[in-house]
Amino acid sequence: MTNMRSSGKWSPNSWRAKPIQQVPSYPDTDALFATEKQLSTYPPLVFAGEARKLKRALASVANGESFLLQGGDCAESFAEHGADNIRDFFRVFLQMAVVLTFAGSQPVVKVGRIAGQFAKPRSSDSETKDGATLPSYRGDIINGIEFDEKSRVPDPQRQIMAYRQSAATLNLLRAFAQGGYASLDNVHKWMLGFVADSPQAERYQALAGRISETIEFMRAVGITSESNASLRETDFYTSHEALLLGYEEAMTRVDSTSGDWYATSGHMIWIGDRTRQPDHAHIEYCRGIKNPLGLKCGPSLTADGLLQLIDLLNPENEPGRLTLIARFGADKVTEHLPKLVRAVQKEGRKVVWSCDPMHGNTITAAGFKTRPFERILKEVQTFFDVHRAEGSHPGGIHVEMTGKNVTECTGGARAVTAEELQDRYHTHCDPRLNADQALELAFLVAELLNKNRVGLPHKTAVNG
Ligand code: TRP
Ligand code: MN
Repeated sequence: MTNMRSSGKWSPNSWRAKPIQQVPSYPDTDALFATEKQLSTYPPLVFAGEARKLKRALASVANGESFLLQGGDCAESFAEHGADNIRDFFRVFLQMAVVLTFAGSQPVVKVGRIAGQFAKPRSSDSETKDGATLPSYRGDIINGIEFDEKSRVPDPQRQIMAYRQSAATLNLLRAFAQGGYASLDNVHKWMLGFVADSPQAERYQALAGRISETIEFMRAVGITSESNASLRETDFYTSHEALLLGYEEAMTRVDSTSGDWYATSGHMIWIGDRTRQPDHAHIEYCRGIKNPLGLKCGPSLTADGLLQLIDLLNPENEPGRLTLIARFGADKVTEHLPKLVRAVQKEGRKVVWSCDPMHGNTITAAGFKTRPFERILKEVQTFFDVHRAEGSHPGGIHVEMTGKNVTECTGGARAVTAEELQDRYHTHCDPRLNADQALELAFLVAELLNKNRVGLPHKTAVNG
């Protein structure tokens, strides 16, 4: 085998010389290049110092001292871009974070699938409906979801729209995270509202009550969100799949402090399970930028294949650089995950292990693509079991969720039935957990984290 580590000189466009999967065919390449050129002059959405800070936070996850919560839409859409959507997502996400922070007695690293999550890999290049065949929908950054010829033609101008939407979304998130909205008191109050209304109220009450007591105690000794910025503010990061490489290349910039290249389209970017061929374009692009990276790990990944990818993406074995996002399906975790965890441990590779319990559990019911809540929960439980058995840290979860009361996944405490899927099925791509289901998942993961802590020596939490 050739040494993949020295596989040639990297530049932001060196991916163009490699084979590539999942690439849209733009009819007007001149227009595409003009757009990419224009994007490359636009301000970065995030800056290198923030990506480095996230990497440090993820290093703490890799060391078993923090937990990663990553979540958001499967695909963001132009049509649903509004303040309410962003706010509702953020509210639920923060409540999940509080629950997980408390239960695990560890900082929670907060990463949204948001402000850039637009491009989608598809299993087929085309879609046939009522005898008509058109190019598949590839996400709003590429083409339109409507099933007509005009919408489905890839349009480079959509990249500009996606960039501007990402900027606006990020702007609001930054304001929420730093401007007082995300204060612990606020988030805790919202959470109490959820618990009170939940059919599972009794089950969640104990944990919620302990958080209330802790906050009251802190207040009594003078630690309040008025006096203490760390109770008032939070660090929130953005992430998306780096699928549309022309866009990513245009947003790739040199950091003046370090001289290193960074993707400035988001803090963390990940590589999908379908585009992780070691000698292909997506790995080539990602290996050269210094951001924290995610790698989706599905059933076709072998232990050797994984080690080869780790060599390419994290040759320095830097903790926080690489997050392995396991997405096997509830029934396949035990078959696939242990051998990967063992290989990583045996070779001493420092990674974050995260569980995506969504993508391996998609089924069709009543004509809708859906995911049963019990399968999602089961995958997370099995993920925790495997890590406990292997003596490794179950570092985080990666979920598709929304703050709205949609009906896309079945089950949950306020059970959504297959027949109800049609009521509020709004996703542009995969089915997401609704607000209640997402919070419920957090409470159930909290129970797992609690169990994990039993018998462990007490660790002092780092403040975030
Ligand atoms: N700054 C801490 C953190 O981000 C505490 C905190 C403030 C917090 N607001 C929050 C935690 C909202 C979770 C959710 O962890
Ligand atoms: Mn998805």
